[in-house]
Formats: sequence, structure tokens, C-alpha cells
Amino acid sequence: MDERIIISKIEDYVATLFSKDATGHDYYHMKRVATVARKIAIEENADIFISEAAGWLHDVGDRKLFDDPNAAKQDMINKLTSWGVGQEVIAQILLAIDDVSFSKGHVKPVTLEGKLVQDADRLDAIGAIGVARTFAYGGFNNRLIHTEEKQEQATATIQHFYDKLLLLKDLMNTDSAKRLAEERHRFMLEFLQQFYKEWDC
Ligand code: NI
Repeated sequence: MDERIIISKIEDYVATLFSKDATGHDYYHMKRVATVARKIAIEENADIFISEAAGWLHDVGDRKLFDDPNAAKQDMINKLTSWGVGQEVIAQILLAIDDVSFSKGHVKPVTLEGKLVQDADRLDAIGAIGVARTFAYGGFNNRLIHTEEKQEQATATIQHFYDKLLLLKDLMNTDSAKRLAEERHRFMLEFLQQFYKEWDC
């Protein structure tokens, strides 16, 4: 099957899986990650099809989002096989996806495609979209936006900027992503400055 047709099949499949998500991991997150992964793949001379496919599919089987991660992954493999994607290509897509999620266990990605999909996923966690997704995720998990109670500050959403989001700029794997991260990082600093200004009235 033609690669463009396979990508559109993947897109439809992802739309059915993530259309109802309210945690910031919705269809449009997958779409942005796939689009940015494709752009970075072109700049970094990586495999474009594997990068884009892995971008679309990178959250399939994520433990936060699926009750049965293994069944979700197997279903994805079955779908790709039924569309005529070769076993070797599927293995490379899976490797790239695992590279993204291995980041959660603090292991560095090994494939270039894994590195750049991880970058695309991290870029979507920062900037204006990152701000929106962070508060959506916090609300979904019953977290406070911010608080003046010292003991509760650690679990409020604003703290997540300092624990993770402001660190991501320096964790990008590719030069393309490092460049893209600069503007988004600056925006978050401006956002926080304005946030505290309004908080203190
Ligand atoms: Ni993601």
C-alpha cells in the first residue's frame, strides 16, 4: 500500500482511539506530534514515514491512557500488518515508540527516529499548547492550579513547570528541536511572570 494511504489509515485509527480524551492526549496532540516529527525528520535526514507513523502512534499503549497497554499495542500491530506494512518496518516504528516512552524511565532513545519523535512530543508539552495541556491534565487529575498553602504547592499544576516543563528545552535530542524549543520556552517564562502578577493583583 502507498505510504500516504497508510498514514491516512493510521490517522483514522488514532482518531477513534483518542477522540474523547480530555487529559491533553487527544487526537490533535497526536496530529501535532506527527506533523512536527515529519518536519524534523526531513531536516535531520531521518526516515520520514517511520517518524510520522511513530508520531501518530506514540501514545498507543501508554499506561496512563490505556487499561490494557499490551492489548492496545497488539491491536496496533495487527492494524499495521493488515494495511500491508512490512514486519521490519513495524519493528522500527515500535522501536521509535518505545524510545519515546522509555524516556519516562530515563533511558535515552537509541534510534534517530525515536529521538526526534521524543523531541516532537516534548515540544508539544511546552509553549502555549503546553500551558493549555498542562492545566487540562491537572484538572483531569483534580489538581489545584496554584495555592498559597506551602504543603500543597508540590502537587499544584504550577509546580509542574519547575519540575519538568522548564527543563525540557535543554533535553531536546536534535538541533531542529532545540531551535523550535527556544520560542516556546520564552513564552512559558512570560506566562509565569504574568500569572504571578495577576495572582498578586
Ligand atoms: Ni504524547
